Amino acid sequence: MTQAPTAHSSVAPAPAGTVPLMNLKVKIMRFDPEKDKKGRWVDYSIQAAPNDRVVDVLNEIKWNLEPSLVFRRSCQHGICGSDAMLINGRNRLACKTLVRDVAKAGGTITIEPIRGLPVERDLLVNMEPFFDSYKAIMPYFIHEDPFPAKEMYQSEADAEKMAHSSNCILCACCTTSCPIFWVNGSYLGPAAIVQAHRFIFDTRDQATQQRLGIMNQNTGVWRCRTAYNCTEACPREIPITQLIEEVKRAVMFGQA
Ligand code: SF4
Ligand code: F3S
Ligand code: FES
Repeated sequence: MTQAPTAHSSVAPAPAGTVPLMNLKVKIMRFDPEKDKKGRWVDYSIQAAPNDRVVDVLNEIKWNLEPSLVFRRSCQHGICGSDAMLINGRNRLACKTLVRDVAKAGGTITIEPIRGLPVERDLLVNMEPFFDSYKAIMPYFIHEDPFPAKEMYQSEADAEKMAHSSNCILCACCTTSCPIFWVNGSYLGPAAIVQAHRFIFDTRDQATQQRLGIMNQNTGVWRCRTAYNCTEACPREIPITQLIEEVKRAVMFGQA
């Protein structure tokens, strides 16, 4: 069901001489588990500056038009990974997406919850299955031998091997854009594989064989069909598909 625009609002009044505000229609997929059997589109009319972020638009709607709107956000600076959502059909972080990049003046922005995880309310999904996969790869440093008296040396070249994977902020943009994950939730998914990569290619860690064993199970890397959606969705520009291929090679031939 599409509801008529409820009211007009603007993110912030533009002082004279600054960039004019744009009129926007924001279509949000809303879901109230106490009333709805499935999600329904609701439209909001709002004014925003081109450089406002989608999270600013959502905050404005929540604070001034629709206090019951539910969505996650925390740092609002691309660090915590909590505001992943489907914006104009693509997974993005609302706090890293500028209005000017997703809407023209008078245009529409569509916002839906990320796919493949149970929707609890509006844009809020249950992240437990995602974090269960994360926990399954043992996402912590394991070192059984006595630690050296001084620092545990890691060469620049060795640090480089895990440079991409250690940038992950666990936002779930990748896993919830993967068609294999949509049809088979038992697939650990690209985010968990990126996290496994981070430890498998950490030369100081001593649980490589255990993690490669987890990756070799039928829920692991072999489920990936190189769809590349994950790489395109990652807000940290991590070359996820390439890292998955590196893990596949490590499973077959051992860690390089
Ligand atoms: Fe998010 Fe990228 Fe990490 Fe996936 S790999 S969880 S998209 S930061
Ligand atoms: Fe899925 Fe990414 Fe592989 S989208 S199929 S995990 S390349
Ligand atoms: Fe923290 Fe967007 S709110 S990454």
